[in-house]
Amino acid sequence: MKYIFANWKMYIDYEESVELINKLKQETFDIEKVEIGIFPNTIAFSDIVKITSGTDYVVGAQNVAWVPAGAYTGAVSAYMFKQVGAKYALVGHSERRYIFGETNEDVRKKVKACLDVGLIPVLCIGETKEDLELGKREYRLKKQIMKVFEGLNLSDEQNIIIAYEPVWAVSRGGIGQSCGPIDADDVHSWIKNELREYTDRNIPIIYGGSVNSDTVETYISRGTIDGVLVGNASTKYESFVSLIKTAEAL
Ligand code: PGA
Repeated sequence: MKYIFANWKMYIDYEESVELINKLKQETFDIEKVEIGIFPNTIAFSDIVKITSGTDYVVGAQNVAWVPAGAYTGAVSAYMFKQVGAKYALVGHSERRYIFGETNEDVRKKVKACLDVGLIPVLCIGETKEDLELGKREYRLKKQIMKVFEGLNLSDEQNIIIAYEPVWAVSRGGIGQSCGPIDADDVHSWIKNELREYTDRNIPIIYGGSVNSDTVETYISRGTIDGVLVGNASTKYESFVSLIKTAEAL
């Protein structure tokens, strides 16, 4: 089974999100082969959960606060997302880290908050272009992994997914420099190995960064790549359906 996760970011508004999900829900997929997660904006979130209820889609939050409730203006907690039907939550997406200034410590707390309320965190990690050029890719990933996994004891019911998203490969308004599948495959193997220091669980690792319907197969046909996190290409009906169908046919 491969994970196909749609990160709609702030690309589409409430009405566009509802329209897109209403079209997508006409499609059925083989859920033995693909798990399709939709990560809509927070305004559309509850309605997307209602519209997808009883369909093959599951829903996740794009970001969560690390405390369940309290004086945190503007924040929405992992607990609140869980309460209205989230299964997953993205944590530490590079746009949260580099635009909104989230630290590894914030990310650790958010992962824990998700696990505490029964959400599956999708922990996003990835090096910047500068890290890559300075030969610090592994250093960056090592730190991001260590901060979350050190001292973390997953119970049998708790799960976590890692999304490897090189920051330089995430598209900006449709333009992205993709990290090729061979390169991604190498990094995924490295991450799997690194995780052995902390857990004997088999943690799924998905790839994200400029994936589209033409390239999805080159990634998920590799054994180390357990799925994809798709931004831009998941916000358009035709491209997303064709991407899912390609993944399902493998
Ligand atoms: P992209 O975004 O597919 O538009 O590069 C991926 C992501 O940021 O999750």
